[in-house]
Amino acid sequence: MSATDTHDPTRRDFLYVATGMAGAVGAAAVAWPFIDQMRPDASTLALASVEVDVSQVSPGMSLTVKWRGRPVFIRNRTPEEIEAAKSVPLAELKDPVARNANLPSDAPATDSDRAAGEGKENWLVMVGVCTHLGCVPLGQAGDFGGWFCPCHGSHYDTAGRIRKGPAPENLAVPNFAFISDTRVRIG
Ligand code: FES
Repeated sequence: MSATDTHDPTRRDFLYVATGMAGAVGAAAVAWPFIDQMRPDASTLALASVEVDVSQVSPGMSLTVKWRGRPVFIRNRTPEEIEAAKSVPLAELKDPVARNANLPSDAPATDSDRAAGEGKENWLVMVGVCTHLGCVPLGQAGDFGGWFCPCHGSHYDTAGRIRKGPAPENLAVPNFAFISDTRVRIG
């Protein structure tokens, strides 16, 4: 079946057009209503990224913001917390990959591959959803001084890496960037 034979728009149509392989005008005409329905409305687009002023977040403090319906933790780590995270041998980590959307998927879970970039290594930005079953972990808590998920007892360290308990993965680092010294954009 070619796309031009299709009467009901389907996912197949969408993929066909979206990959730029459609040569027939008819295929595009059929697919357009479907693509149009999939376009996010204005309110969704407005939430696609958020900018956060972190100027009031001193070392040792953190902030939770909502992004795309989920909590995001922004933590300003103390030198001791950074040092604690850096001193952990990678071989001790339960989840050895960074889970950092800003890096390749196989980047290792070193502290520097989890934290914000050079000069900003005190900042940690992570989706605040436990990788076990989705509870919101508590900050500055747990056996490793990072986060503790009380639902089933998962302990994350000061780089948000899972160290103990049933959670399988490190807390996810979303796409983010510092757009000035005190403002971070998430998404
Ligand atoms: S949801 Fe966090 S430990 Fe189960």
